[in-house]
Amino acid sequence: MNIIGVSAFYHESTCCLIQDGRLIAAVPEERFTRVKYDRRAPVNAFRYCLEAGGNLSPGDIDCIAYYEDPVKKLARQKAMGLAEHEDTDKPERDLRNAFGVDCPFIAFDHHLSHAAGSFYFSGFPEAAVFTVDGVGEWATTTYGVGKGKDLKILEEVHFPHSIGLLYSAVTDFLGFQVLSDEYKVMGLAPYGKPIFVDKIQSLIQMGDKGQFKLNLKYFDFSQAKRMFTDDLAVLLGTGQRVKESEVGQIHMDIAKSLQVVLENTLLEKVRYLHTIAESENLCLSGGVSLNCVANRRIHREGPFKNIFVQPASGDSGSALGAAALAHIKLTGKRHSEERIPHVFLGPGYESETIADLITQSGIKAHDFRGKEAELLEAIVDRLNEQKVIGWFHGRMEFGPRALGARSIIADPRDVTMRDRLNALVKKREGFRPFAPVILEAHMNEHMDIGETSRFMTETCLVKSKLDLPAITHVDGSARVQTVDPQTSPRFSRLLEAFNRRTGCPILVNTSFNVRGEPIVCTPEDAIRCMANSQIDSLVLEDFIIDKAQIPAFLRKAAQLAPGPFRDRVESDLHPLLSGNLERWRPAEGVLPEGVYTFV
Ligand SMILES: [Fe+2]
Repeated sequence: MNIIGVSAFYHESTCCLIQDGRLIAAVPEERFTRVKYDRRAPVNAFRYCLEAGGNLSPGDIDCIAYYEDPVKKLARQKAMGLAEHEDTDKPERDLRNAFGVDCPFIAFDHHLSHAAGSFYFSGFPEAAVFTVDGVGEWATTTYGVGKGKDLKILEEVHFPHSIGLLYSAVTDFLGFQVLSDEYKVMGLAPYGKPIFVDKIQSLIQMGDKGQFKLNLKYFDFSQAKRMFTDDLAVLLGTGQRVKESEVGQIHMDIAKSLQVVLENTLLEKVRYLHTIAESENLCLSGGVSLNCVANRRIHREGPFKNIFVQPASGDSGSALGAAALAHIKLTGKRHSEERIPHVFLGPGYESETIADLITQSGIKAHDFRGKEAELLEAIVDRLNEQKVIGWFHGRMEFGPRALGARSIIADPRDVTMRDRLNALVKKREGFRPFAPVILEAHMNEHMDIGETSRFMTETCLVKSKLDLPAITHVDGSARVQTVDPQTSPRFSRLLEAFNRRTGCPILVNTSFNVRGEPIVCTPEDAIRCMANSQIDSLVLEDFIIDKAQIPAFLRKAAQLAPGPFRDRVESDLHPLLSGNLERWRPAEGVLPEGVYTFV
């Protein structure tokens, strides 16, 4: 049985495939189109699911499981005056047309899909389920319980009262991009003092049971330009930060205060959920669960013993939940009782394919086919020389975090590495440190972590005797990924090789992309990203390409922005690129700037 789960038409459209109870593939559309957060019908992701399922045809699909209820969603949009049309069949029709399928189409509620995306992949036989996001149809926060194949929502908080929208509104106020940059606000918080806590607390009023209310005087969710009113500026005693302008102490203080209020609110509501759910297990889902600092407090200070966070807990992960719900509907059984072992669910490329690409492109690469130990030592040589390495290995990760398939790696002991990576490689704001990746065998020696953190969903304190400036935040914390040798064997062996040479079983691990671009998917994306940034060396499976080995014509193509002079510049390019420029060209662009309304 082949079930396709879909989230689409809002933010980061995604497809996944559950085939005979096994999660075979999951990937967002943006990775193929190179348009960040692409919200269009995920036709490329669908095609990849067909391929990963064993070259299926659209006729082999038994069901499309959709992640929200278009009828309920339209009712909310109409109530807000935001409805663009009255056609509740549109999502189904658009997906059928895009995919060419005539199988059943089943839509599940947005928060149920989120909850299912966590519970049915947690491996817990039973659990409390806490889902917090901006908004789906009406629900913004839900309290549920899962047991076996059953998943029930016990209580909901409805729009416009939303913790996610509160966080996004302040993100907007701080001059960052809504539905994208919330993690930057989280990263800014440790630099601030919580001096605005009382003021931000006044934006949200706790209610009975799981309920709360936003003080709507300060918010305006009905417009596309901004999510807050002038009253918020009066309350905080400052205006909205201009995008890309300098981040001041006041912005850090607001970020810190927002983070404190968020954590306190979530902790209070998690404690309430514990009183009604009769479980020691907690599943978290929804976009707010991407806040790994809050997850840590819930784990450390909350009443639940065990926690699972869906690795892609934004709307992407709800595609998985919808597919799991459809599996139960069609078979009467939960698709799996096991915890999702890894998220390497996207495209992978054989060394031979990469060898052909390298030959065709005129790149002189170092070939380590059949010589893994030598490959790893050659990478360690470069890391030890403080080089920045693009690491491309195996199937691409699902979710927002790079977990050792499409990663940029570097030496965490280098004091200059953080600034270098921020400025020259990632081309992003300098205030954020990078995440560490550590061998599980050594994790307790260096991190105050206790248990594994394979999906980078929680932070912890660094307790290492080593000085690790590139990965340690100003408050002594790090967003750590622990590496499992079973599911990441080569990445583990690389860490072992680095540890043998240096006594440090830790590397910097950041996503393989530059600012504004999705994480790289194909070998071509990786070469282009390297050519267009200060990555020193690229590991493409069994090959190493050093910066100097990238031909000048490829570097030129990689920097070739779309525009009126493109055709003229194209004519200057190497004949190897003629008729084949698309694979080297930068993304045509990201979604337009501005607040993404929740329409
Ligand atoms: Fe959501």
